[in-house]
Amino acid sequence: MQRKKLHEQGPTLSRIIAGAWRWHTVSPATVDRLAHVSIDQGITSFDHADIYGDHSNEETFGHVLANNSSLRDKMELITKCGIKFPSQKRPLSRVKHYDTSLQNIVWSAENSLKMLRTDRLDLLLIHRPDPLLDPHEVAQAFSQLKNQGKVLHFGVSNFTPSQFQMLQKHLPFPLVTNQIEISLSKIDPLFNGDLDLMLELGVSPMAWSPLAGGKLMAGEREVFSVATKYEASYSQLALAWLLRHPAAIFPIVGTTQPDRIIEASKSIGINIDRQDWFEMLKWASGKDVA
Ligand SMILES: NC(=O)c1ccc[n+]([C@@H]2O[C@H](COP(=O)([O-])OP(=O)(O)OC[C@H]3O[C@@H](n4cnc5c(N)ncnc54)[C@H](OP(=O)(O)O)[C@@H]3O)[C@@H](O)[C@H]2O)c1
Repeated sequence: MQRKKLHEQGPTLSRIIAGAWRWHTVSPATVDRLAHVSIDQGITSFDHADIYGDHSNEETFGHVLANNSSLRDKMELITKCGIKFPSQKRPLSRVKHYDTSLQNIVWSAENSLKMLRTDRLDLLLIHRPDPLLDPHEVAQAFSQLKNQGKVLHFGVSNFTPSQFQMLQKHLPFPLVTNQIEISLSKIDPLFNGDLDLMLELGVSPMAWSPLAGGKLMAGEREVFSVATKYEASYSQLALAWLLRHPAAIFPIVGTTQPDRIIEASKSIGINIDRQDWFEMLKWASGKDVA
């Protein structure tokens, strides 16, 4: 498995990341297996959020770490903060909202440390752009967590280029990623400036739902006639299509099946040639480029 820095001053992660969003739908034993199989395949980076599984997935993963003392040092842990919604576990939330206040960022990061049973987060992301985001408060929260060694690096998710640049201007260290939705069924970032900014700043984006939540595996597949040429499965080609982009996109695969983790890890060696890449883009957009 390839490994790469997200940014010159950022963490080194595996090019394919395992995403834990759906992992509450399987047993704790399967989560344990997903963690081990991922590590065995060289997928050492795990994407969490405080809210996944109604605030339960970090805790389940924390049990895996507690039961396997050598695992933590073999992996990089990513988590997110800032989304709040009404839940029995969060009785103070009356309405779905965002909270990027100093107090909430620090509380949430410390809670994630507790849930994940670790002393450090490799990367903390602001989950969604918050219309009430005060960049001075975010800078204070990030600096405090960094100085205390609780969070090593910071980034954002679902930010527009101007939101990214605005926050970056207030920070004494670089944001190391923007985690956005990119796939053959979500191609806007290729054309709307999202990836241009990443290339300009030398920041690697992460792609969430790189298989469109599995929808890419259903329906029409004629574009994937190239699959035979590459001796690859449809999902491997869809991941290889993202990996081919010069912005060094890190796809986050969301499968709950250990065998599909192994399948995804094999997309790394596939180098789609330029014309096949454009053929896949044509399939995705429904038209030739101009
Ligand atoms: N920052 C954000 O706002 C945000 C939003 C959404 C997600 N995320 C992150 O992105 C990660 C990935 O999102 P996602 O789960 O939507 O990603 P995905 O990899 O596009 O979709 C995974 C889904 O596709 C299904 N699938 C069907 N065929 C598959 C195949 N051949 N290989 C793999 N999966 C197949 C999986 O089912 P099986 O489980 O049965 O394999 C699973 O339900 C999440 O875990 C989370 O970490 C972030």
